[in-house]
Amino acid sequence: MAVSPRSVYDPLSRAFHWLTAAAVLAAFVLGPEHFGRQMHDGLDPATRWDIVTHESLGVLVFVLTLLRLVWVALRPARPRFEMAGWMSAVSHLVHGLLWLLMLAVPVTAMLALGSEGHPLTLLGGLRVNEMPFIAQSALAPMADWGEVHGLLGDIILNLAGLHAAAAIYHHLVLKDGVLRAMAPRG
Ligand code: HEM
Ligand code: HEM
Repeated sequence: MAVSPRSVYDPLSRAFHWLTAAAVLAAFVLGPEHFGRQMHDGLDPATRWDIVTHESLGVLVFVLTLLRLVWVALRPARPRFEMAGWMSAVSHLVHGLLWLLMLAVPVTAMLALGSEGHPLTLLGGLRVNEMPFIAQSALAPMADWGEVHGLLGDIILNLAGLHAAAAIYHHLVLKDGVLRAMAPRG
């Protein structure tokens, strides 16, 4: 049962949520397998619509997340629901991890491109050939950022699946207003 005056998220929070969820899912589905290795072997990513779309959607996720964080600081209070202490703690933990991953997945992708000298290619023909500030940074040699990015991409999708299953459990079993609060039409 909602205990705050609001029982649904404001429309902008709902729009941010579903746009981001759709972009993460599409970026994952379009994530062409082994394209990091193909770029190593000389593939120009601009010649592949799936790579260009993957990178564009990922950059969109990053930009939406930054704007959304500004909105979280300004928006009306979000709805709050009565639930067991452990359930509320797990939900906070999962939301926190999702927020972190929505930033870390694109950032590690930029580290991968910059440190390996591959271009960033976006829809509309936008292209950044080199990112010397990344290539020359102390972070560049610290990890195989392509591997880290792929792993974090898998983790965000699995975590989002768990989070979606929890939302459906709230709706079907607990019959509280949690899913309705974030539903596109509120
Ligand atoms: C939330 C958004 C994103 C998700 C869920 C995601 C997911 C993934 C996954 C799962 C892979 C591994 C594919 C495979 O080899 O099987 C991958 C690879 C890659 N992604 Fe993303 N990605 C996202 C955003 C981005 C962005 C913003 C960029 C570029 C700026 C990008 C560039 C790349 C590159 C270059 C690789 C190949 C890495 C390598 O093997 O060296 N991705 N992505
Ligand atoms: C990549 C996919 C997803 C990501 C990254 C994601 C991320 C998030 C985040 C960060 C929040 C907190 C939002 C805020 O305070 O404004 C949230 C809330 C919520 N999400 Fe998702 N989400 C995803 C997919 C889904 C799906 C598929 C569903 C439902 C089937 C769902 C249902 C909900 C609900 C009901 C809430 C409100 C929960 C509450 O107030 O305790 N999400 N999500």
